[in-house]
Amino acid sequence: MPLSQDELKARVGRAAIDYVRPGTVIGVGTGSTVAHFIAALGAMPERVAAAVSSSERSTVALRALGIDVLDANDVEHLDIYVDGADEVDPSGYLIKGGGGALTREKIVAALAQRFVCIVDASKAVPVLGAFPLPVEVVPMAEASVRRRFAGGVLGTSGDAVLRLASDGTPYVTDNGQHILDVHGLRIADPVAFESAVNDIPGVVTVGVFAHQKADVCLLGTADGVRTITY
Ligand code: A5P
Repeated sequence: MPLSQDELKARVGRAAIDYVRPGTVIGVGTGSTVAHFIAALGAMPERVAAAVSSSERSTVALRALGIDVLDANDVEHLDIYVDGADEVDPSGYLIKGGGGALTREKIVAALAQRFVCIVDASKAVPVLGAFPLPVEVVPMAEASVRRRFAGGVLGTSGDAVLRLASDGTPYVTDNGQHILDVHGLRIADPVAFESAVNDIPGVVTVGVFAHQKADVCLLGTADGVRTITY
């Protein structure tokens, strides 16, 4: 029987433990793949010293396992940052933010020496953009940012849709902002695209991680965990 997507996520979550040095402070991302990594961290015989977390959700899970969570402001460098992604391209450029934590994820990723990305094989794509790109925005800029994407950014245009919570009201991030999910993009140059979107007034964070791309990707496939180094 083929392995389920969740089993592939569990395998890469466990495999990422090989990159964790006991006694160090590490960065921990957000999502269902990271939830497996956090569970494996809790089972390590020699623990990490502490973690910096990219979301309230991950903080709760880490503390429940007795792992100390530090404020990002109190840490200058992290050994590694471990997180999932919504898409990963052949150069290690990512789309992230499906879970809404992209801003904190980018902040924590930027503190780390090495970004270890953990994904199941369904996330590997030739070109970023089939997954609707999350863009965290200040609410008063929603309409203008939507128009900018409709008009095209670096030759690719998209339909930016306001993300809603389950009760139908706008989804609110951990930072009190909203998210536009941009459909229909084809991101040929992720580095230039990330910079161009960052320049749009009202954009807090774009879910393209090109300046903070993965250094290593652990890809969960039916044949086992593949390690890709960029
Ligand atoms: C969270 O905001 C995201 O960046 C996640 O890393 C991404 O959505 C992957 O999530 P899963 O591990 O749940 O697939």
